[in-house]
Amino acid sequence: MTLILLTLLCLLGASSGKLAVEMDPSPITAKAGDDVALKCVFKVVSPPVDLSQLVVQWFYHGGPLVEFDEEVTSTRPDATLSLEGLRSGNASLLLSKVSSRDTGNYRCYITYAPDIRIKQVALEVEDPTQIPSKPKGACPPTVDAQLLQKMDHIIRALEQIVGKLDHPVPPNRR
Ligand SMILES: *[C@@H]1O[C@H](CO)[C@@H](O)[C@H](O)[C@H]1NC(C)=O
Repeated sequence: MTLILLTLLCLLGASSGKLAVEMDPSPITAKAGDDVALKCVFKVVSPPVDLSQLVVQWFYHGGPLVEFDEEVTSTRPDATLSLEGLRSGNASLLLSKVSSRDTGNYRCYITYAPDIRIKQVALEVEDPTQIPSKPKGACPPTVDAQLLQKMDHIIRALEQIVGKLDHPVPPNRR
């Protein structure tokens, strides 16, 4: 367990800011039909970005969505990222014409050898043509959804811990 925690802490960036990744504050709200860019920008220690060292992965609902590893591949035609942007540290996910089905958590994994960072953002899509519904109340969550929610809690908790490690209380404050 300790090892898992340490590994996660490492992934989340406790090993002190070599590779910095930033997202917009969660949740992002959009309207059905909008083109949405989910921000995920990264800074490497010594720019420019060497694309041969870079792997970018976007996950949605725990499944791979868009990946850059030598080339950009996507599991959906309406989701992509800009190869040009990557050169300047912009790995933002571009979603065209979102619908309420696109609501949920998106994770951005940036690997710039040997560093890895994971960030997560939630997207909420409002669809005025649909009667507002609370999907969570409407149908019982599946086991997978519950597991993902637990993962989300753990990641949030770890991010808080990481935040504290990054800004330690000065030693003279005892
Ligand atoms: C990153 O790229 C997206 C989509 O191309 C763009 O909307 C956004 O403004 C860019 N962000 C930065 C910080 O360059």
